[in-house]
Amino acid sequence: MEIRERLQNIETFLRQYGIEGEDAFIVLTTFYLRLHNPKPVSKNLTFYKGQGEALLSKLNNDILLIEQLEDYISNDIKGDSLPIAYQYFLSKKFRDNTGKFFTPKEVAEAMSNMLNIQEGAIVFDPTCGGGTFLTSVLKRWGKSKVKIIGNDIDKSLVFLTEVLLLIHNTNKDNKFEFHNHNLYSDFDAFNKLFGKVDYILANPPFSMQIKSLDISSPLFNLGYRNSDALFIDLCFELLKDGGKLVCLVPHSLVANKDFQKFRTEIEKRWTIKGVFILPEGVFNTTSNTTTRADIIILNKGKEEEKSNVVFGNISSVGVATSQKQKEPVENELKEILKQSKVLTSLN
Ligand SMILES: C[S@@+](CC[C@H](N)C(=O)[O-])C[C@H]1O[C@@H](n2cnc3c(N)ncnc32)[C@H](O)[C@@H]1O
Repeated sequence: MEIRERLQNIETFLRQYGIEGEDAFIVLTTFYLRLHNPKPVSKNLTFYKGQGEALLSKLNNDILLIEQLEDYISNDIKGDSLPIAYQYFLSKKFRDNTGKFFTPKEVAEAMSNMLNIQEGAIVFDPTCGGGTFLTSVLKRWGKSKVKIIGNDIDKSLVFLTEVLLLIHNTNKDNKFEFHNHNLYSDFDAFNKLFGKVDYILANPPFSMQIKSLDISSPLFNLGYRNSDALFIDLCFELLKDGGKLVCLVPHSLVANKDFQKFRTEIEKRWTIKGVFILPEGVFNTTSNTTTRADIIILNKGKEEEKSNVVFGNISSVGVATSQKQKEPVENELKEILKQSKVLTSLN
């Protein structure tokens, strides 16, 4: 049975108890928490778990429903499909044009493969959404130690990220921090991270208008009064010297003449390591947006030694880019990253 069919069955059963939307997602996730029983890192997780247990107590041990939930989990023990379940139960959120859509796992994995594994590195996703990037980082680091920090404006997404990371964690020395702040106004919340982060991996909301700022942002001051400018300048503050930003940005930022001054300003303070132009429809499987996005790889500071910039015009990323395309689809991005000379140039 397909995931959607399983979710539909759970939805039908839960509706009989008046449980739907976010509550249905919380019930399913609480079942995962019961199975794995991880120690919560944040109060947010404790809060949602309490809510989930309260909802589960309403179900009067409905055997058929419990069987549905157990069947779902037995097909996906580690909850890799929880972001899909989130989108299924909270579909309205994704229709409201809030810039909320998840990055396909294939793209997130390729982007985390661009990071050099460093023992004890601090990796931050300031708009972590469904936790896809951070889960990929945890898998990539494997037995090596890492500190992972996630933030999102939506606290139910911070919950989802925490659950996935705790379920996937296999190294007891790893550290986790979860925040629920508005990245574009709660600057004080991030002060203590300034200059400390090794890697930022992200797919922030694109091109949101920002009227005024009470921090300094060189790109904003050039007249680019949007979230893309502020995001890159904030990342600059957060990273250590030489730290790396691997990020999805709107294609216009890479290609349009209007962003020439933007790109020149970036070149003054960053070393551009790579740019990958992604195919149209890259978010086709996770959202109905047609937004075009590219990956940029920047190291903080100007490197003395001149290095090659990796430039890739990518035609496939391992996911269908239109309704017509049938999977499995080639993954040119993954293949390119197997070349050691590409990885060396990106680092
Ligand atoms: C395009 S989604 C990407 C999510 C995630 N990085 C992924 O790829 O699955 C952008 C995310 O940014 C979050 N977001 C939007 N505005 C934000 C803000 N002002 N501060 C922090 N997060 C924000 C949204 O809730 C959403 O989860």
